[in-house]
Amino acid sequence: MKPPRKLHIKSYGCQMNVYDAQRMVDTLAGEGFVETAEVNDADLVILNTCHIREKASEKVYSELGRLRAIKDEAARGGRTMNIAVAGCVAQAEGAEIIRRAPVVDVVVGPQSYHHLPQLLADAKRHGRALETEFPIKDKFGFLPAPRPEAIRARGISAFVTVQEGCDKFCTFCVVPYTRGAEVSRPVARIVDDVRRLAEHGVREITLIGQNVNAYHGEGPDGLIWTLGALLHRLAEIPGILRLRYSTSHPRDVDDSLIAAHRDLPALMPFVHLPVQSGSDRILAAMNRRHTTDDYRAVIDRFRAVRQDIAFSSDFIVGFPGESREDFQATLALVMQIGYAGAYSFKYSPRPGTPAADMREMVSAEEMDERLVRLQELIDSQQSAFNRAAIGNTVDVLFERPARKPGQIVGRTAYLQPAHVMATPDIIGRVLPVQIESLERYSLLGRLAPSASQMASAAITSAPTTFPQASDSSQTRMGT
Ligand code: 5AD
Ligand code: SF4
Repeated sequence: MKPPRKLHIKSYGCQMNVYDAQRMVDTLAGEGFVETAEVNDADLVILNTCHIREKASEKVYSELGRLRAIKDEAARGGRTMNIAVAGCVAQAEGAEIIRRAPVVDVVVGPQSYHHLPQLLADAKRHGRALETEFPIKDKFGFLPAPRPEAIRARGISAFVTVQEGCDKFCTFCVVPYTRGAEVSRPVARIVDDVRRLAEHGVREITLIGQNVNAYHGEGPDGLIWTLGALLHRLAEIPGILRLRYSTSHPRDVDDSLIAAHRDLPALMPFVHLPVQSGSDRILAAMNRRHTTDDYRAVIDRFRAVRQDIAFSSDFIVGFPGESREDFQATLALVMQIGYAGAYSFKYSPRPGTPAADMREMVSAEEMDERLVRLQELIDSQQSAFNRAAIGNTVDVLFERPARKPGQIVGRTAYLQPAHVMATPDIIGRVLPVQIESLERYSLLGRLAPSASQMASAAITSAPTTFPQASDSSQTRMGT
């Protein structure tokens, strides 16, 4: 038997890229590849790139420079190393990458990962291969289902892509160009995936999509289902304890999604709902298609059905033409809503987007200052939100042993890490925890007395292997 070939994937950017990386590993497992964390040993290195913000392509070229040295070293040792560039930079600049970086063997856009084996074979025969078409409706129909051992190794929380692409065309954003038009997967396929994940120990599912609540997939009844309907269906699958979804657009919050939050205890009361700016003038220039009043009204609809719901958001500071008053309006909106956390970014012009041609640039110093002020405000809200948990008993889904021996770490409904001293048999279960203190962003506590008894009596089986902490540098998707 041939020894397995080794595959190293480096992913940048959003959860969709993390998910796509896993699908690439699953696809290439069929070709005899096994994943390695060690780039020097790899027979194939894939850079899974992100194009959403600053200097994306420069980062790719400098990483390719480093890889060239490693590839040359492998060649001196008589070993062939192939290098592939995937993801949104591959989609946006594929031909340019082939031209500028001879070290690259394969360039593959996000819609074509199922063609990777063929592209590698083509590269072997003809030297290089490039595919950045948007050829099919549902690439996932062509990708293999994850293998049971891979599911178990990835732990109790999994992402499932339900839609991809975006038709909104915010003026600052590359997603509609790199991920293409909005496409939703059929309900039956998603149900199959989730059932399979649950059978192999997954307890929490995050449905992902660039514009996830624009979901409109074909249902088993031949009708078009909304995200709310899909969530209702998934909540029925045995073993699924928690459901989440990301990233949502304020305009696409419909009554079925609100009803899902009202009706489904498994649907976590934590919603990532980017607003980008608190100024109506800037929102219009961004082509967001909603005002701040629309956004506040959406928040109120969620709060009306779940008092314990919390929100996070994305903000861009220094969008072209953003005045001091516009920025003040953003601070005022943050004060008014009160977030459990949020991501904020300095505007960066993305080639090919309408905003890249706008002239009224905000100076670098002004942008830096605004970012610091906004982040300070968000941090203070996040700390207050985390501190509010102290003294309460909250449900925690336990994920894996923590770094400190004897500790198990899980997450609250709001994705706050929570640590307790306990035995690993609690992994995969939701148990009440009395929160005693906060250490930076982590809650520390003890299993509530009833939970300790339940833990010793419980029969649920947990996966036997646990992944290490996931990469916290990951960013959110658009919307
Ligand atoms: N500049 C800065 N931030 C951006 N984002 C998207 N495009 C840009 C850009 N050109 C941010 C938005 C989005 C998040 C994923 O990235 O806030 O919601
Ligand atoms: Fe679409 Fe979101 Fe990008 Fe706007 S920011 S174009 S809604 S992905």
